[in-house]
Amino acid sequence: MQYRHATATGHAALDAALVSAPGRPTLPVRLTVELFGRARERLGTRPVTVWDPCCGAGATLAVLGLRCPGVTALAGTDADPGPLDLARRNLGLLGPGGLDARADELDARAREHAKPSYAEAAAAVRALRPASRPAWSVSPADALDPAATAAALGEHTPDVVLADLPHGRQTGWAADGSGSDPGTGPEAAFLTGVAAVLAPDAVVVAVGPGRSVPLPDGVRPLERVRAGHRAAVLVRAGDLPRIMAA
Ligand SMILES: C[S@@+](CC[C@H](N)C(=O)[O-])C[C@H]1O[C@@H](n2cnc3c(N)ncnc32)[C@H](O)[C@@H]1O
Repeated sequence: MQYRHATATGHAALDAALVSAPGRPTLPVRLTVELFGRARERLGTRPVTVWDPCCGAGATLAVLGLRCPGVTALAGTDADPGPLDLARRNLGLLGPGGLDARADELDARAREHAKPSYAEAAAAVRALRPASRPAWSVSPADALDPAATAAALGEHTPDVVLADLPHGRQTGWAADGSGSDPGTGPEAAFLTGVAAVLAPDAVVVAVGPGRSVPLPDGVRPLERVRAGHRAAVLVRAGDLPRIMAA
């Protein structure tokens, strides 16, 4: 893939700022910014609300707030409440004093372990300026259950959905959507489930491992992208099959 939106390649300060948990994969910063840029191309210039229905530790959303202007709100939901405290910490970086507090933590670690690398990371984090100052929320919800996600989203009306889909042993699907109608597997059930709570012009970006992300039968994507061992699909919510939130 040719990067059109994410031209910067060094992300050491962001990597130092974000907290993660072992075994919890996160999308690379550059890929996150690029996919978001491609989704925004489809929406004109309006400010946007972004929803990550599989937010985990919230790194994807925090990267968007830190790097991308014009983000007014971020909503994170995940079927597993376990990583959501990490998500709150990462999204807390976007608020006043958030990055300074994280830099203070790294400075304290530098003193405790006599490691200059922590002090360098602290200085880099202190120099970061969030590109957006979005409102944000984080709540547990199964992405395959539109009633649960509608309740978790509350007043948020997402323009962009960006999700690194569950894969592997540590972050498998919390519910098996295979065989549900319409669709062919958990990815199709996910896409149909999130579309049920979106406006038709919202753009859904789903990232998965392998060569391509499966779509429900008969759905045409806006765009397909390959990056290393990942694939992504961009699809308009209104082009996905409609099921009604209960
Ligand atoms: C690859 S991880 C996403 C990592 C995330 N982007 C981050 O920055 O930490 C996939 C996530 O999907 C969640 N998940 C699995 N099944 C789900 C479901 N049915 N609904 C919502 N989230 C689900 C997992 O709990 C996991 O946190």
